[in-house]
Amino acid sequence: KKESPSFMSKYGNYYVKGTLYTLLLAFVGVLFGTILGALLSLMKLSSNKLLKAIAFVYIEYVRGTPLLVQIFLVFFGSNVLGLDLSALASSLIALSLNSAAYVAEIFRAGIKAVDNGQTEAARSLGMNQVQSLRHIVLPQAVKNILPALGNEFVTVIKESSVVSVIGVSELMFQSGVVQGASFKPFMPIVVASLIYFFLTFTLSRLLGVAERKMNNA
Ligand code: ARG
Repeated sequence: KKESPSFMSKYGNYYVKGTLYTLLLAFVGVLFGTILGALLSLMKLSSNKLLKAIAFVYIEYVRGTPLLVQIFLVFFGSNVLGLDLSALASSLIALSLNSAAYVAEIFRAGIKAVDNGQTEAARSLGMNQVQSLRHIVLPQAVKNILPALGNEFVTVIKESSVVSVIGVSELMFQSGVVQGASFKPFMPIVVASLIYFFLTFTLSRLLGVAERKMNNA
């Protein structure tokens, strides 16, 4: 009797491709999310009422609407504007814009967690607001911010599964392809869940190690 090739030897490369896309989406999303999020948190800290209001509305709106809806907004919105972004480009943009709102809150919380006495001491030594933020508060805030950014990366690895709806070949989309090709509904999803778990669990462990090193340093 002829051995049929194993599930993974037949479909493994679908999952490899999907995993790479998932990691790309999460990495780019959190990278640009961090840049934009830092900017948003600075806008919120600024004394300019207009900048503050823009940041407030942006953060609340993005956090108050589903990521799924935001992905459709970017994908079909780009079409309406005549930009015709690809599904991948739309997804990278939507994930970055989404992550930025959450990262802004990470920065805000990280900065707020530094005791006010630090700012007061810096100001009494003659530093202005920007100087005290830059030289006294931020160096202490990174201890809160970096681990939270790591968690954000873990979150976006999982959340990026939503972009399968517009056909980006990340892990969930590829699992759908394998479901169709193998006529098996369940097994392909089990494999996807194991890969997601492997990614997030490994990353959380690495982050835990890095965090302990940072706190002992
Ligand atoms: N699943 C939620 C949503 O669709 C949360 C998204 C979380 N995003 C993030 N970058 N932390 O709105």
